[in-house]
Amino acid sequence: MRKQIVAGNWKMNCSLEEGQKLASEVMQLMLDEVQNETEVILIPPFIHLSSINDQIPFKDKLLIGAQNCHQNESGAYTGEVSASMIKSCGGSHVIIGHSERREYFGESDALLAEKINSVLKNDLTPIFCCGERLESREINTQESVVGEQVRNALFHLSEEQIAKVVIAYEPVWAIGTGKTASAEQAQEMHAFIRKTIAEKYSNETADTISILYGGSVKPENAKEIFSQSDVDGGLIGGASLKSRDFIDIVQAFD
Ligand code: 13P
Repeated sequence: MRKQIVAGNWKMNCSLEEGQKLASEVMQLMLDEVQNETEVILIPPFIHLSSINDQIPFKDKLLIGAQNCHQNESGAYTGEVSASMIKSCGGSHVIIGHSERREYFGESDALLAEKINSVLKNDLTPIFCCGERLESREINTQESVVGEQVRNALFHLSEEQIAKVVIAYEPVWAIGTGKTASAEQAQEMHAFIRKTIAEKYSNETADTISILYGGSVKPENAKEIFSQSDVDGGLIGGASLKSRDFIDIVQAFD
């Protein structure tokens, strides 16, 4: 069975105090209310990782991750953070290839492939993001765009390695816009991504990979999106900054 995952990407938000408050509210709500087996991941800015990790008393259902990492282990890369450093702060997951990294920091597929290697080498789980821009959706080229992103960043991996990757389909036009993909559009793309992996590797491996949807997920639309057969959870931006909304999204699996 595939893991159900809800991950909160805080992006560049929250002071340390705000982040600690948000994390403790999420923990309390999980203890009080969450009965399902969903894996919940908090993904704060790097600088808060260690202190938020120290706040979490139960590491089986609530994990933490980072929003990016450098492709190298260490060295003269001023301002950068490596996968091994994330691990040393208690992180278990790393988002790789978020569209904001691709767009504002010029991250190429080739670079993302290197970052994926570094994350896996450190026994962390990459959450690999892919997704088309509005222009592609308008001319119906979303499958070729996303297929290429997946092939370029992941297809150098062995079957054993790719089985450890979590994929997040995040159509760029739905991120932070309030405009979410319909449940049908999400299902179509998730099934396409799974088929792309099955063709290169095997059905068995493709069936074990969790594929999350991201882009304006809210408590009001989470249930319908998560009920699709190839949608295994969500990567949540704005709504992860409100503990109540975030937990309501986790509860959408009930
Ligand atoms: P929003 O939920 O704010 O649209 O952001 C989605 C996202 O980019 C998560 O990584």
